[in-house]
Amino acid sequence: MKNSKLFLIAVIVSCMLLPLQAQKFPGLAQTPPMGWNSWNKFACNVSEKLIRESADAMVSSGMKDAGYEYIVIDDCWQISRDSLGFIVCDPVRFPSGIKALADYVHSKGLKFGIYSCAGDKTCAGRPAGRGHEYQDALMYAKWGVDYLKYDWCNTDKLNAEGAYITMRDALHDAGRPIVFSLCEWGNNKPWLWAKEVGQLWRTTGDITNCFDCFEDHGTWKQNGVMQILDMQTPLRQYAGPGHWNDPDMLEVGNGMPENEDRAHFTMWCMIAAPLLSGNDLGNMSEQTKKILTNKDIIAIDQDVLGIQGFKSSVKDSVETWLKPLDNGEWAVCLLNRSKTLKNVTLDWKTFSVTDTLSNRVLDTKGKEFYQLRDIWTKKSVGDTRKPLKTTLSGHDVLCLKVFKK
Ligand code: GLA
Repeated sequence: MKNSKLFLIAVIVSCMLLPLQAQKFPGLAQTPPMGWNSWNKFACNVSEKLIRESADAMVSSGMKDAGYEYIVIDDCWQISRDSLGFIVCDPVRFPSGIKALADYVHSKGLKFGIYSCAGDKTCAGRPAGRGHEYQDALMYAKWGVDYLKYDWCNTDKLNAEGAYITMRDALHDAGRPIVFSLCEWGNNKPWLWAKEVGQLWRTTGDITNCFDCFEDHGTWKQNGVMQILDMQTPLRQYAGPGHWNDPDMLEVGNGMPENEDRAHFTMWCMIAAPLLSGNDLGNMSEQTKKILTNKDIIAIDQDVLGIQGFKSSVKDSVETWLKPLDNGEWAVCLLNRSKTLKNVTLDWKTFSVTDTLSNRVLDTKGKEFYQLRDIWTKKSVGDTRKPLKTTLSGHDVLCLKVFKK
């Protein structure tokens, strides 16, 4: 009798603990993840050769030194399932298999990422995860996968939160710390529920390499850089260490002019976005490399507080953006949304902004003054005792680090 009572208590206690066991892997992505993803430039044209060469280029270009870590193969690496339901990679494009590829990426001191989808098929029509979540998670863990991007095509009436929780639990059970990147495009407001599910969630549909436009494909639209930026404004309170808004992978180096690439990269850093470059790493111009490896702007993205920046004002198409940083420092960036040159003056004597989210105030009106460093010219531009007068070309940024000596 005594034993059966004890047994009953043990069962009740274990049942109460069960929900606690289901969780995302703790401690991952404390700053926004950084890496490269094949989709924006190569779409389905992926192969082990491309992935190996991209890993090599990530090291030789200095991107690894600048903080980039993950090499992620997007859609089209998978071709079928075998008779037991295990996922099979395209043997022509990946003749050595995914495990060997992950080993190669690891041998470069980098981490390896892969793509799948919560539906029956991926967006490119390849076999996806639905019904195979635990089997796939075990396979990924066995291969040495460190990052999983999980898409939302062909999901019919699936419940998004439930579907992503299933994959989260499968990854957790597989036992390997794998960053879980939800690619649900913001349809079901993942910012409201995904903090406990993954480390990052897409907030919008796909990006395109256009600074200020939409591309209409009939049933779906691609968004330009400015369109995506505008959609992030109401979401800043949902981001923080280990749980990031993902405004999609970068288009830097994919055809926009230098000023637009610089503005795109700067604004992604200002909103603490994951930095997944999407260009051809093996054939990168010096100009692209300079943008992607600017450690000063990357430090703003990677700031340990993980506070997403915000727009504080707009005047004559020039937006002022602020991001509170660790150590009482700030990033202040001016973004010229127009195509024409603007004369701008930052009159610090009238400048005071309160961020109610972080409870931080940048007030340069009083006696205290701050030093100003231009993040792109890497030069000091004085301090807040004097107004900053400058010109700003169209679709470009001026970005300052504001700090006390
Ligand atoms: C969706 C995603 C893209 C990419 C493709 C692959 O469109 O949003 O980022 O992964 O699928 O098919």
